[in-house]
Amino acid sequence: MTPTTSLDIPVIAIDGPTASGKGTVAQKVAEHLGYHYLDSGALYRLVGLASFKKGISTASEQELAPIAKNLSVIFQGDRIILDDEDVSDQIRQEEMGRRASEVAIHPMVRQALVTRQRAFRQKPGLVADGRDMASVIFTDAVTKVYLTASAESRAERRYKQLIAKGFSANIQVLLQDLRDRDERDANRSSSPLKAVEGAHCLDTTSMTIEEAVNQILKWHQVN
Ligand code: DC
Repeated sequence: MTPTTSLDIPVIAIDGPTASGKGTVAQKVAEHLGYHYLDSGALYRLVGLASFKKGISTASEQELAPIAKNLSVIFQGDRIILDDEDVSDQIRQEEMGRRASEVAIHPMVRQALVTRQRAFRQKPGLVADGRDMASVIFTDAVTKVYLTASAESRAERRYKQLIAKGFSANIQVLLQDLRDRDERDANRSSSPLKAVEGAHCLDTTSMTIEEAVNQILKWHQVN
């Protein structure tokens, strides 16, 4: 009998630009299937936050890499604990999204997070969301999805989320920030955001979350 390895555990990779709804959709797909869930963007946000707390610039690859490697983080349901502090809300702030996108351009930072991400591959399966899930981290993912939406609708969604959480927000500033991040994420030389060959493209501009979830579940069933 051939021994089971983590490579036998199915992965659904969901990549796409910022605020495309990946997180919500991926979490619901995972819930539906009883799979684990990896929010890889949270790891880059944590590096952004931890370095901010230490006064380290997002340009300093040499100083950021050990921070990424040694992050002391616990994922507890929907809460994220960094060095014994609940930072779930802090990492969602726009400033941390921007810092995350800046630290993510560095190959040494990306490399330092590879093993940690792959460790989420546990039975019975994993739904992983990010930018390079299908292209780098889980190249053998059984279902690959590239999820997107127009920049305007993404800015509007982000605006509503922030207001609902009691943060102040300006939609024009959000739109510009989102375009800057798209540009940085898609044009960096290390693991840029892109749809890999074989990925199902899903434009959610005029779709509900449920429709997007059902579509992904259908694709996964066929695989
Ligand atoms: O998905 P998110 O908005 O939380 O991600 C924040 C930033 O982290 C994003 O702008 C780019 C970076 N990121 C990445 O480079 N690779 C990933 N797999 C996930 C996120």
